[in-house]
Amino acid sequence: MCGIVGYVGPKNATSLLVDGLKRLEYRGYDSAGVSLMNGAGVETRKAKGKIAMLEKAIGAHPIKGNVGIAHTRWATHGPPNECNAHPHHDCTGTISVVHNGIIENYSPLRDMLKKTGHTFVSDTDTEVLAHLIEAAFDGNLEEAVVDALALVEGTYGIAVISSRDPEKIVAARKGSPLLIGLGEGENYVASDVAAILQHTRHVVYLDDGEMAVLTRDAYRVTDLNAQTVKKRVSRIDWDLEQIEKGGFAHFMLKEIMEQPQSIENTMRGRSVDEDGFSKLGGLNLSKDELQHFDHIIITACGTSWHSALIGKMMIEEHARIRCEVEYASEFRYRNPIVTDRTLCIAISQSGETADTLAAMREAKRRGAKTLGLVNVVGSTIAREDDGGIYLHAGPEIGVASTKAFTSQVVALTLLTLKLARLRTMSVVQGRDVTQALERLPQQVQSILDRAAEIEQIAEAFVEAKNFLYLGRGYNFPVALEGALKLKEISYIHAEGYPAAEMKHGPIALIDENMPVVFIAPHDSVFDKVVSNVQEVKARGGRVIVITSRDEPSLEGKIDYEIRIPETIDMLNPILAVIPLQLLAYYIAAKRGLNVDQPRNLAKSVTVE
Ligand code: G6P
Repeated sequence: MCGIVGYVGPKNATSLLVDGLKRLEYRGYDSAGVSLMNGAGVETRKAKGKIAMLEKAIGAHPIKGNVGIAHTRWATHGPPNECNAHPHHDCTGTISVVHNGIIENYSPLRDMLKKTGHTFVSDTDTEVLAHLIEAAFDGNLEEAVVDALALVEGTYGIAVISSRDPEKIVAARKGSPLLIGLGEGENYVASDVAAILQHTRHVVYLDDGEMAVLTRDAYRVTDLNAQTVKKRVSRIDWDLEQIEKGGFAHFMLKEIMEQPQSIENTMRGRSVDEDGFSKLGGLNLSKDELQHFDHIIITACGTSWHSALIGKMMIEEHARIRCEVEYASEFRYRNPIVTDRTLCIAISQSGETADTLAAMREAKRRGAKTLGLVNVVGSTIAREDDGGIYLHAGPEIGVASTKAFTSQVVALTLLTLKLARLRTMSVVQGRDVTQALERLPQQVQSILDRAAEIEQIAEAFVEAKNFLYLGRGYNFPVALEGALKLKEISYIHAEGYPAAEMKHGPIALIDENMPVVFIAPHDSVFDKVVSNVQEVKARGGRVIVITSRDEPSLEGKIDYEIRIPETIDMLNPILAVIPLQLLAYYIAAKRGLNVDQPRNLAKSVTVE
C-alpha cells in the first residue's frame, strides 16, 4: 500500500526523504512525491512511476529544506499520474498533506468545499483533507488538523506541513499505521519502520485516534481532544529484510495473514446493513441498465477464474441471471453469443493479463457492457472497462495469489447483492448476506490464529507426490484453487474435482499414498460429501477434512481435521480457502522452495 515518510531536523530533507521512499518500494506503488519547507513556502515535486522518476524531477529543479514529507502512492481514487500523486495541497499552496487509507465520505465533503469556493485539481480522496485543514486553519496547524479530521469518515495515516506554522510536522492515525522515529535533534514520521531504520531504531507507534506534533527537539502525542497520551518508546531489533516482509518468512505468508484487513478494505463503505444492499460507486450503470441485463459472462485466468466460478453460482442462485464463466484465452477466439443485454465481467488482480484484456475487448466490440473487478487501480482493464469494482486489497507481491482471491469473492458478493436486491432478493435475505460479510474478517482471523496446527499437518505431506482436492457446490472452485496453490509453489501434482465426480476416474488413483483434501463445511451438500469421504477412506486414502462442525459418521474416517467457522453457503469459499493457502505455503516452505517466485511463473502474464 501507500507509504509515508517525514523529517524535521537540521539536515537537508530531500535526499533523506527520497532514500526513505526507496525503502518503501517493496510495498508496491505507482507514483511518488515530496514536499519541503524551502524557507519561503511549501515546494513540491511529484512523478508518476518509479522513485527514479521523482529523483529526475528533483534533479531538474532541486529543492532544499529541513522539514518535509514524502509519499509513495498505490492508487485508490483516480489513476496513477503526477496530479494524483501525493502530497496534495490546499488552495493557497501553504498546506501539504500525505495520506494512506481511504476517506469514505470524500465525495460529499468535496461538494461542500466546492460550494464554499475551494478548487480541486486531483481525483483523490486525500485532497479534501488539505482543503478541510485550510478551512479550519487559524494559525495553529495541529488545531486545524483536529477540526478537519472531525469531519472525516474512513481510515487515515497522515502527515501534514504548512508554511504558515513551519517548524513542525503534524501526523495522525486511524486505521492506517504510523510511527514516530526519534533522533538526536531530529525526528521522523513513517508508515513503516523500514523507511527510517537507517537513521534510528527508537520508535513510538501511534494508536488509532492519536495525533503527534513533531519538531526538531521534541514530539508530543495527544488524542483528538488535545489530551496528552503517554507513549512507550520501542526499540527495533529487526533487519530491513525482515521488516519488508512484516517479520514473515515470505510475502505469500504475509499476504495470507493480511486477509482480515484486505477483506475489510474491499467491503469498506460498500456493504449497507440496514437495507441489505451494497453501494458500488464505480459501476457507472443506472438502475435501469442493471435491471436490463439477462446474461452475464465472467472471464478471467488462473486464480481469478476460480473466483469467477464462485461468482457465477452466487449470481445465478440469488440474482437469477444466466451466467457463464469462460477462460479468457478461450473466449477471445470463440464466436460467443453476446447481445446488448449481456454484461461482461473481467476479473483480474493485476488488470494487465493479456488474455483477460483481449476477452473484455472482444465482448465490448460485440456490444456487451463491461465491468472490471481489478486490484491495481489505473491498470489497462480498469481504464478500458465501462465501470468496475476495485478490490482495494493492497499490492500482492507473492506470485501465488491469495488475498486478491478472497477480495474478489467479497466484491462478487457485493455485486450479487446489488443485482439480486434489484430483482428477487428481499431486504431480510439481503441483510443475512451483509451481516455475514461483516463477520468475515474476524472469522478469517480465527483460522489464521491456528496456523500452527496447519503447519503441523503440512509436515506429514512434505514428501507427497500427488494430492486430490474435492468439494461440491460453492466449494468445488475452492478445491480447484487449493490444488492450484499447491502445484504452483510446491511442484506437487494436484487436481481439484467436484467430490461426486471422483467416482468417474480419480477414484482409481486412491491408495495409501494419495492425500485427499475434502472441503466440507456444513452447507446444503454436506451429507453428500460425507459419503465421498467414506469412499476414499474405504480405499486407504489419507483424508484431510476442512469442516465447520462435529460429524459423528466421520469418526475414525478422518486423518486430519481443520475447523473453520460457520457462515452462509456463498461465503464458505472465503473461509475454506484460508487453510488451503496455508497448507500449500507450509508444504512448499518445508520443501525449501522459492515460495514467492516459483519457477516458470509470472505474477502478471502480459503475453498471450
Ligand atoms: C498468473 C498468476 C496467477 C494469476 C493469473 C491471473 O498466472 O501467476 O496467480 O491468478 O496470472 O492474473 P490476474 O492478474 O489477471 O488476476
